[in-house]
Amino acid sequence: MSLAICPGSFDPLTLGHLDIISRAARMFDSVVVVVMFNSGKSPAFTVEERYAFIRKSVAGIPNVEVDTYEGLLADYCALRGADAVVRGLRVMSDFEYEFQMALTNNSLHPQTETIFLPANREYMFLSSSVVREIARFGRDISPFVPPEIALDIQARLCGKEKQHERG
Ligand code: PNS
Repeated sequence: MSLAICPGSFDPLTLGHLDIISRAARMFDSVVVVVMFNSGKSPAFTVEERYAFIRKSVAGIPNVEVDTYEGLLADYCALRGADAVVRGLRVMSDFEYEFQMALTNNSLHPQTETIFLPANREYMFLSSSVVREIARFGRDISPFVPPEIALDIQARLCGKEKQHERG
């Protein structure tokens, strides 16, 4: 049984992420989407919220499981006995960071390979930060995130902005 890990901060999950997850699910027997900590980012959503968004969005893909993990990706891969880590690549500027991460993970746990999938043309520009920015200004984010979670994201970020304005 082949197993792939799709790690990320997913703050929040976008259609670009979902495209990579769905393609990984066609390539491997099972896929685990894992919400992790990126030390370079301070997330807008809690781990529980991000986990719940992903659960709702992948409910229709039978071989995809969702998890959270606070430690190193290489340790999680070892724990799960993963064959591969799957990451999406959008533009060349993604590459340097992704390559460094792949090499680091390989030196910590060589049994798991990293596979890069090119982003779908439609989602080349898309990122969680773009979604957060659009939602905070009250514009419709439904073209960018799975339909199951669009309203929840919008309500949460717009509400937060309004509270911030009042406070
Ligand atoms: O969606 P992101 O923020 O690009 O995902 C990056 C993530 C969370 C996969 C990465 O930061 C990570 O693997 N974090 C766990 C800690 C770790 O293993 N760090 C060493 C990798 S260089």
